[in-house]
Amino acid sequence: MISSTRKVILTCSGRGTLGVARNMAWWSHLEMAPLDPIVGLTELFKEDSNPQKTNLGVGAYRDENGKPWVLPSVKTAEKKVMDAQLDKEYLGIVGDQEFNKLSIKLALGADNPALERTTTVQALSGTGALRVSANFLKKFNPKAIWLPVPSWGNHTPIFGHAGLEVKGYRYYNEKTIGLDVSGMLDAISKIPEGDTILLHPSAHNPTGVDPSKEEWQQIEEVVAARKLFPLFDMAYQGFASGDIDRDAFPVRHFVEKGHSVALTQSYSKNMGLYGLRVGALSFVCESAEEAKRVESQVKIIIRPMYSMPPSHGVRIAKTIMSDPSLRSEWTGDVKTMANRIIGMRHALVDGLKKQGSSRDWSHITNQIGMFCFTGLNPDQVLKMREDYSIYMTKDGRVSVAGLTPKNVEYVAQALHNVSK
Ligand SMILES: Cc1ncc(COP(=O)(O)O)c(C=O)c1O
Repeated sequence: MISSTRKVILTCSGRGTLGVARNMAWWSHLEMAPLDPIVGLTELFKEDSNPQKTNLGVGAYRDENGKPWVLPSVKTAEKKVMDAQLDKEYLGIVGDQEFNKLSIKLALGADNPALERTTTVQALSGTGALRVSANFLKKFNPKAIWLPVPSWGNHTPIFGHAGLEVKGYRYYNEKTIGLDVSGMLDAISKIPEGDTILLHPSAHNPTGVDPSKEEWQQIEEVVAARKLFPLFDMAYQGFASGDIDRDAFPVRHFVEKGHSVALTQSYSKNMGLYGLRVGALSFVCESAEEAKRVESQVKIIIRPMYSMPPSHGVRIAKTIMSDPSLRSEWTGDVKTMANRIIGMRHALVDGLKKQGSSRDWSHITNQIGMFCFTGLNPDQVLKMREDYSIYMTKDGRVSVAGLTPKNVEYVAQALHNVSK
């Protein structure tokens, strides 16, 4: 615990050492900061004594027993890493170069000609990659960044703390609980030229609503016409459809169409490496020479931030990505997670029908990825918590990964009761 007072011992020369304790109230003026909405929810959940309590707030994968899952491919890779008894030397500012190459190949495809004009640096998972990109933009394209409304809760502080102006473009239609594609295209067509637009390529957080391939093609055309800089935040490659390549379509499409883009990647969800902080930041540039200059500037940003990234997690990730048999085991693990989530979406809708709900819940199965926007309003969300001990974020978002064959019926019953 940090004490609000600090004791300073003064030493008076010539008269020996005299201990004088003075209270210096450095931080007494600070107010208590609000809890992070998700962390706050977990605290409330922990205090709840209801044996049927269910936490659908946290965005981390859970197996069918509601427990964290270490991917079998990750276990094998980690053993290989440990057996190799590697040294603990610094990795350098850009991190593990082999991992960086494998990471961008995973995103763009191994044969993509744009790889030659791309630079990739290792990052402290998705959040760290976003923060470095934010500081880079603040320095070299200090215009507004546009986020979908709504977007992941941490996007606004990440870009705001870096000093960028953060604005929003229409994305979600509250009435259909789906994508408002015409509203989105219209909003993007009004963004001032040269601004940055953040796009979620797959498994949009928090809505679970993704554009179709055709809609992405339309989005690309408007972004090109407006001359916007696209920043893709890819935190769920493979997690949405279970297919690594399919989920990367938007990024590959923009690159194929000739855009220079920035890309952040996270291996928290698709490899389950949450706490190991494995990620990457890439810039697809106009030329190899430009990519070198961009990388040199990214290094200047990273060095005083955290100097160099950690080595253990990337060693696991690169072992998986570079070994064909481990890689295919891993894509199988990704499918296992994606399919369990998709299965739980269907189980929830079936459960609601069994309860006799006459509402249209098709958005639950139409949405994709870890999250589902239920369409519940804040009062209904509160009722779910107070009457049933089912926890979700205020906006009615549930993490489908928190559903299991054991709790899905209880959740369906509660959902029906608060929404009828
Ligand atoms: C959209 C989005 N971007 C980035 C992240 C970053 O996650 P991490 O820093 O754990 O990789 C998340 C995590 O929930 C996310 O949902």
